[in-house]
Amino acid sequence: MDIDIVRDMASLDPELLQLPEVSQVALKEKPKIAEELFCQWLSLSETGKLVKSLIEDAKGSSPLNVPGSSSSSNSIGSNSPPSMFPAGSVPPLSPRSTSGSPRFLKRNPSVGPSPFGSPLKLVSEPVREVIPQFYFQNGRPPPKALKEQCLSRIDHLFFGNLDGLQLQEFKTVTKEICKLPSFLSTSLFRKFDVECTGMVTRDAFIEYWISSNLMTKDVATQIFTILKQADHNYLTQVLLLMILNLSCESFWHPIQVWSSYRGLQNFRIDMVSETVIYRIFYYMNRSGDGQLTLRELKRGNLIAAMQHADEEEDINKVLSGESTLCQHPESDYMIGLYFSYEHFYVIYCKFWELDTDHDFLIDKENLIRYGNRALTYRIVERIFSQVPRKFKSKVDGKMCYEDFVYFILAEEDKSSEPSLEYWFKCIDFDGNGIITSNEMQFFYEEQLHRMECMAQEPVLFEDILCQMIDMIGPQNESYFTLQDLKGSKLSGNVFNILFNLNKFMAFETRDPFLIRQERENPSLTEWDRFAHREYIRLSMEEDCEDVSNGSGDIWDESLEAPF
Ligand SMILES: *[C@@H]1O[C@H](CO)[C@@H](O)[C@H](O)[C@H]1NC(C)=O
Ligand SMILES: *[C@@H]1O[C@H](CO)[C@@H](O)[C@H](O)[C@H]1NC(C)=O
Ligand SMILES: *[C@@H]1O[C@H](CO)[C@@H](O)[C@H](O)[C@H]1NC(C)=O
Ligand SMILES: *[C@@H]1O[C@H](CO)[C@@H](O)[C@H](O)[C@H]1NC(C)=O
Repeated sequence: MDIDIVRDMASLDPELLQLPEVSQVALKEKPKIAEELFCQWLSLSETGKLVKSLIEDAKGSSPLNVPGSSSSSNSIGSNSPPSMFPAGSVPPLSPRSTSGSPRFLKRNPSVGPSPFGSPLKLVSEPVREVIPQFYFQNGRPPPKALKEQCLSRIDHLFFGNLDGLQLQEFKTVTKEICKLPSFLSTSLFRKFDVECTGMVTRDAFIEYWISSNLMTKDVATQIFTILKQADHNYLTQVLLLMILNLSCESFWHPIQVWSSYRGLQNFRIDMVSETVIYRIFYYMNRSGDGQLTLRELKRGNLIAAMQHADEEEDINKVLSGESTLCQHPESDYMIGLYFSYEHFYVIYCKFWELDTDHDFLIDKENLIRYGNRALTYRIVERIFSQVPRKFKSKVDGKMCYEDFVYFILAEEDKSSEPSLEYWFKCIDFDGNGIITSNEMQFFYEEQLHRMECMAQEPVLFEDILCQMIDMIGPQNESYFTLQDLKGSKLSGNVFNILFNLNKFMAFETRDPFLIRQERENPSLTEWDRFAHREYIRLSMEEDCEDVSNGSGDIWDESLEAPF
């Protein structure tokens, strides 16, 4: 169960919130109030605990009692969904923030059960608990002690700098006072220094950080607020690119060093940050509209990746892969997901290899050569029909680098949700939301034909279909839904069977190399394994003209980074 479900169930019904003195009329006029209050309530850690414990209870098969319903009827068969809240347990109510003692709304017994079958109203005795105020119109003000402690540290850092701090000095403030990753320092600095004086004063900082209560927000909200444009409620790709550009010291310099000893002469340095951004958007905003909302930011693990990256003593080490996956699997996984040279290098080289005329565009003929001609014409055709995802490329019939990044992540990380969605749309020819055996057979035919050409013993469609049904275990055996595929760990194999001959063969023959890799490092994703393998291959390739356009000397072993 996902907290969003809770939100979706309840956000629309202000009654569920049991708001004292917020009249129905007021709620109708300002429907957002209820939603805000509810979100506020949801964000409390007590709420999280409550919901968790309820979920645990539900999992632990202890029957959920719907209080108030007569003993003969349980929720099954009645038209109300099962209750979220077991008998006697109600979410805390928000007390009033106005003066006077807290007052609680007495439940109105004459109100009939809501269409949601809310148990809240069915509890006969109102629960009188004193709960601290949790809703503040402009955010929770910092507790007094915390505020004073913070002020004294600000005074300390600004001491002797009457005109304020310069960017370099301000880094300490970002890290020590705001406790934010230091590469956000420039963005934060610019928030104050709108007139480009190169200085941030103590008062301006206090106004922004403490008086506006930003200080007490969660880290995701803080970062989101700092990064976004004032009048937007989302982050854009261009904005994130600018941020990476701004953080040049921590970001650009190591890349320059790295690229020069990799011998990447033809390589455009901005491709690195573009790759980072495209990957962030691949994993975090699936709609592809180039806008990242706070909710998506919170849901994804980008913030954690940023923090991990910052905690490492030397970001260069992280980015260059010197701190290897095996040392800190978890944090490196986070960082690797978005900020990794190794991954950038692999994506970029793959693109460069296919883009034979180096115009930074890829057509069908180019893509068919991907992965030693692994893909079928039929699937490449589907990709270029732009059904799974509309190309960003402005040139008809060609993919740009961004389209390719999306493709390669979908192809090499088939366990990720965006990938399943991408390939599902490819196979679902009529777009009716289910994949039928006819649709699968259409794609499989070409695989079968290729196996015959290679004098491989062909695997008949009927046999492979049974195997696929076994792997997925769909709700209805006559078709697969996206939900079915998301529920199985083996969905990637189904797609490989349908259109990637090399991966299909490796799977059929239980490629010992793959099996060993999986056994050695079960925590790595399919993408990590791919990137690592390809990185080693690319690094060892003697003839690197295609990739680097460099001379052999540049690939001198002694210059190899210790990857
Ligand atoms: C980022 O920097 C690169 C290289 O300096 C530049 O080409 C690109 O236009 C910049 N991007 C943005 C969004 O500022
Ligand atoms: C992506 O962002 C848009 C708008 O910012 C939003 O409407 C959409 O739901 C997001 N996609 C996902 C998968 O959350
Ligand atoms: C499965 O789907 C088919 C076709 O839509 C339908 O005829 C059949 O009744 C379904 N079977 C089950 C068990 O739901
Ligand atoms: C390599 O770079 C040189 C000059 O930078 C250019 O003239 C040449 O066409 C490039 N070769 C390839 C294969 O890209």
